[in-house]
Amino acid sequence: MMAEACLRLDGVPDPSLKTDMTPVLRSSGHLSADRRYDYARGAASEGDHAAAADLLLQTLEIVPSWAPAWFALGEAREEMGAREEAAQAFAQALAHDPQDSQGARLRLARLGAAAQPDQPPQAYVRDLFDQYAARFESHLVKDLGYCAPAVLRDAIMRANDAARRFCVVLDLGCGTGLMARAMADLCDTIDGVDLAPAMAAKARASGFYRHVEAGDLIDFLNAREAHSVDLVVAADVFVYCGNLDAIFAQARRVCAPQALFAFTLQRGEGAGYALGDDLRYAHAPAYIARLASAHGFHLLFCEEVSVRQDRGKPVPGLSVVLTAP
Ligand SMILES: C[S@@+](CC[C@H](N)C(=O)[O-])C[C@H]1O[C@@H](n2cnc3c(N)ncnc32)[C@H](O)[C@@H]1O
Repeated sequence: MMAEACLRLDGVPDPSLKTDMTPVLRSSGHLSADRRYDYARGAASEGDHAAAADLLLQTLEIVPSWAPAWFALGEAREEMGAREEAAQAFAQALAHDPQDSQGARLRLARLGAAAQPDQPPQAYVRDLFDQYAARFESHLVKDLGYCAPAVLRDAIMRANDAARRFCVVLDLGCGTGLMARAMADLCDTIDGVDLAPAMAAKARASGFYRHVEAGDLIDFLNAREAHSVDLVVAADVFVYCGNLDAIFAQARRVCAPQALFAFTLQRGEGAGYALGDDLRYAHAPAYIARLASAHGFHLLFCEEVSVRQDRGKPVPGLSVVLTAP
């Protein structure tokens, strides 16, 4: 049953919407190229993608190896229905920015021009949330009723029969710290990690954490001692992670006996995980069950919730609590 009370509007900039994705400040270092690029963005935001493509081609005549212009050209061509040409432009964006801060690999996969990546490019996730950090909370909480941390707290409370406190808690993808705030009365110490330094800085400033690291959650888990943690949480993070095998392995390693591993997901179909049109990963319940069993977790709690609205429609999700025996 879908828990309507858990609906939230996700204020995260929708990776599939180019107007949200495009960084406000990008410079090629060449004034007239920047000007054409800005005009192109303006044309695209007014729906004139042919004009945008034209201006971007002019931009690229001046700065042929500027990845943002190639990326924007890919977007304009995709909007025009020119998929093959769009893929060519995204491939150029990737060639000129191998770190892939705009997520050209995801666009290529969505167009069917490349295999689905196991993970999104780190630079892409980091930039996406660094740009969003300043308005993350006001937008989500005040304007859009974000409730993933409350959903996860509720799942943990219902799974935690013993009503125990948690001594050591890890918050993976902690964002600005909303999960620690939701769990504060149940935990002694919470350590957090976030890929986006601007998000991590906000979490640090919240005062709810003992320690917050800016970095990848796998490195963060790798650095912990085995069996040293009572609760691992990840609220609305695995949509940006794809393959969860290594995360489950590390979560299991750090979990003490009877520790909990609690997370939300976007619910997928079939037996695995897939990159959706919204450029987020969805995970099938069967995939989670298989990983849980392969890594020695027991399933304590799993409930269908809608953890995000995408263009006005609730996206099916899951809240899951596993335990280490
Ligand atoms: C939608 S936000 C949720 C933030 C927080 N958990 C909350 O509920 O408010 C997802 C966060 O996960 C972080 N993230 C995504 N992939 C990550 C990774 N591999 N390692 C660390 N953080 C990651 C992003 O930077 C972002 O801040």
